[in-house]
Amino acid sequence: MTGRRGALIILEGVDRAGKTTQCTKLVQALRARGRAAEMMRFPDRTTKIGQMISLYLEKKINLEDHTVHLLFSANRWELAPLIKKKLEQGVSLVVDRYAFSGVAFTSAKPGFGLEWCKNPDVGLPKPDLVLFLQLSPAEAARRGKFGDERYERTDFQKTVLQRFEQLMKDPSVNWQVIDAARSIDELHQEILRHSEAAIEQAANQPVAELWN
Ligand code: TMP
Repeated sequence: MTGRRGALIILEGVDRAGKTTQCTKLVQALRARGRAAEMMRFPDRTTKIGQMISLYLEKKINLEDHTVHLLFSANRWELAPLIKKKLEQGVSLVVDRYAFSGVAFTSAKPGFGLEWCKNPDVGLPKPDLVLFLQLSPAEAARRGKFGDERYERTDFQKTVLQRFEQLMKDPSVNWQVIDAARSIDELHQEILRHSEAAIEQAANQPVAELWN
């Protein structure tokens, strides 16, 4: 590899933790500091697979639970070559959700174990940093009502949070837990600090494989 590669930075967290706002602010701040950065999000609803996922989330179609899990994973795999290309070109990617959401949401359904859920995503480009925006269910509830999409229910989100907590015990992933119950700007400053450190760390290392 010649030159410095970009870093793969993921923002995860339960719904309403402020991930999308923080992703946007992070990309803007990195660019303002002269670093190449772009935002991505999963699910990416623009592809054929993403459109099917979107219909499912909007409750316009029903899909069998294993099937939809594999579609979410396929949606990441179809973008994996682009992710690698961008990183190698020196672009840092700020990504709203990744395989961790995939595992946390499906394994919150009855009958799904963590290991089964992780398998389809084994080998994806490994994030250099995963920022977990932590928000208690009570604080999330104070931020207003949920929307109408599938999974937007307090009881389900509580189980999702427990699954994320299990995933965070894995020391092979660079997790940073961020207290999201603070102002947008305070959160942003902490996220920026962790991200710049990860970009420096990743620069001269090859892209690794997730959970491998
Ligand atoms: P969002 O587009 O508002 O972030 O919401 C996507 C929803 O899909 C959210 O409830 C989390 C869920 N999800 C999964 O179930 N599996 C996945 O792999 C991903 C990325 C998201």
